[in-house]
Amino acid sequence: MHLSAKRMEKISTHFFNTRQEKVKRLIDEGKDVICLDIGSPDMPPPQHIIDTLCNAANDPQAHGYQAHNATEALRHAWAEMYHREFGVKLDPNQQVLPLMGSKEGIFHLMQALVNPGDIVLLPDPYYPTYLKSVLFAGGEAYFMPLLSENDFLPDLTQIPRDIASRAKLIWINYPNNPTAAVAPLSFYQEVIQFAQEFKLLVCHDAAYSQIYFDGYRPTSLFQVPGAEKLGIEFNSLSKSHNLAGWRVGAALGNEQSVQTLLSLKTNTDSGHFLPILRAAATALTQDQSWQVERNNRYQIRRDIVVEKLLELGFETSKPLGSFYLWVKVPRGQSANQLADRLLDEVYVSVAPGGVFGQGGEGYFRIALTQPKERLEEAMGRLEEAVSL
Ligand SMILES: Cc1ncc(COP(=O)(O)O)c(C=O)c1O
Repeated sequence: MHLSAKRMEKISTHFFNTRQEKVKRLIDEGKDVICLDIGSPDMPPPQHIIDTLCNAANDPQAHGYQAHNATEALRHAWAEMYHREFGVKLDPNQQVLPLMGSKEGIFHLMQALVNPGDIVLLPDPYYPTYLKSVLFAGGEAYFMPLLSENDFLPDLTQIPRDIASRAKLIWINYPNNPTAAVAPLSFYQEVIQFAQEFKLLVCHDAAYSQIYFDGYRPTSLFQVPGAEKLGIEFNSLSKSHNLAGWRVGAALGNEQSVQTLLSLKTNTDSGHFLPILRAAATALTQDQSWQVERNNRYQIRRDIVVEKLLELGFETSKPLGSFYLWVKVPRGQSANQLADRLLDEVYVSVAPGGVFGQGGEGYFRIALTQPKERLEEAMGRLEEAVSL
């Protein structure tokens, strides 16, 4: 009996699912695997966020279904965060929709907006959910290459005008996963202009907006005046507040798409757990100063690993945002083979670039989500593997 729907053929099982199963098998065999593949922060959230969760869980009234658009307090908390961090004003009731992680919102937004045959402009390499969600909706992707010579920004002038006129939306994502590139305000201005010319919705994924180094501050799309009417931005507490497992994100901006997403979500979930909603509001509105120390730690890790990679002859650079390193595979080798060898021979798991699309071929991605000592150990093992 063939049970899966035809559209399932368009979306294979996610790489990290298969990789996690393999890593688990190796760990069960007693191998000391160092995981630098998935971007799940290793540091805990601060205690005041956990305390809010625990206190709320003790409230007998906190266990029922919640509204699909969460609580007023949480919508206000997201709007407050955007005002504080980016100087942007959003209407908490119409332009803010809390999500169960931004991945959920990204996938569902495409189901809510994309018709079969619609063209969506996607960066390549990309966060895999962009492509899978478009294909699942029956849409078609047009890829905008992210090249090192363009600082991993798409060259909008290279998009054929007939493609741009037929496209419905454009995805961008900075600080970028997987390349770790960042984008200046002028890039966002260019994208907004392009979107206005071709009547596109801009979808900006700002999942790494709070992870930055060397005095750099990432930009929100909405720092371009009026962009909150023309675009939708996704944000998340997964990386900003070390809360990946809690599944808290938000869709913000363009009212019509935020409300269409809400309408779809009234059919797919029944609200989040109230203690998580309360703790998320605490996370967004209370003390943020701990993030300085957290980002410093990522920065120290970044410097150690980049220096070692350069010493070993790899090509990479020090990113200003995100917690990834995007590393070129030495000439004559394939990223898949190198990643397989690293896992099979020295038990270090990295993500081969092809996981993020054709444009990722020839690279691998390292997530700096392990303590400094483990990263040093991983680099020692990498040295061993490349000299084998
Ligand atoms: C670029 C990007 N967007 C979105 C997400 C999803 O984050 P979450 O669903 O945890 O909010 C991730 C997670 O790795 C990501 O890297």
